[in-house]
Amino acid sequence: MYFQRDLLAGRVAVVTGGGTGICRAIALAFAEHGCDVAITSRRLEHLEATVQELEAHGRRAVALPADVRDPNAVEQVMRRVGDEFGRLDIVVNGAAGNFVCLAENLSPNGFGTVVDIDLKGTFNVSTLALPYLRRRGGVVLNISATLQYLGTIGQAHAASAKAGVDALTRTLAAEWGPIGIRVNGLAPGPTEGTEGMRRLTGDKRDTIIQQTPLRRLASREDVAQAALFLCSDAAAFTNGVTLVVDGGLWLASSRVMSLPTEAELERAAGA
Ligand code: COA
Repeated sequence: MYFQRDLLAGRVAVVTGGGTGICRAIALAFAEHGCDVAITSRRLEHLEATVQELEAHGRRAVALPADVRDPNAVEQVMRRVGDEFGRLDIVVNGAAGNFVCLAENLSPNGFGTVVDIDLKGTFNVSTLALPYLRRRGGVVLNISATLQYLGTIGQAHAASAKAGVDALTRTLAAEWGPIGIRVNGLAPGPTEGTEGMRRLTGDKRDTIIQQTPLRRLASREDVAQAALFLCSDAAAFTNGVTLVVDGGLWLASSRVMSLPTEAELERAAGA
């Protein structure tokens, strides 16, 4: 553990998509640091095992099935959290959907579905949490991505949605800062052991590692540690930023210039 165990003591968080992948790791890290957690997903079976793990950390935890595209379902989630925990301090917008598809093959509904989950879902959850967050101030953390920074092939839908999420982060940070609510983003690159890694990167694991300046993939815990920071008082004056946690991969993605290979260095030394 890098932070003190009581980093989030007494706080209550809602983590959408919290049953699996990166957001499961974030939910667990929150519980390890004293936070009670409600996790949501469309499917209850995605949540039950994680709730048990959260409780094993001695925290209260609840599984609330809800589709972030459905404002009524999201409102129910917020009401349940208000009733059961009596407060809400942190909202993590992690629910997302994605697949690889060239724009020319993508149907309007395929494009819209990803925008509905990632972007409109983030709007729904954030605005419906607002009445609870504003009672004593709080934090919203939007899980973003890096694929919208470049022209990522096969990702017109997700890149558009995540660019919107980043815009929403900045606007909400400006609108809600004065009422004590910080809004930030977190942009993981390819992360080991996630559905995104399985769906999006195929057999390119070794190439990605080679292209990443830190020469490895992110672990889910790498991302969770950054989430802990952004949702804690350590980030009390950090507002409206999206923190990239990708080992420098996207910065190094322009391969016009590249580092010399070992052989080239040896040749140069001998010359
Ligand atoms: N390629 C092209 N189009 C696709 C597709 C693919 N791989 N997968 C779905 N679509 C299209 C469908 O064809 C449909 O469009 P249509 O009505 O014009 O045919 C549209 O997207 C909606 O698909 P549907 O399966 O009905 O949506 P859903 O709400 O059940 O599922 C998804 C949403 C598509 C995002 C699904 O992949 C999902 O549930 N993902 C959740 C987990 C996830 O994606 N994790 C990765 C995070 S990086």
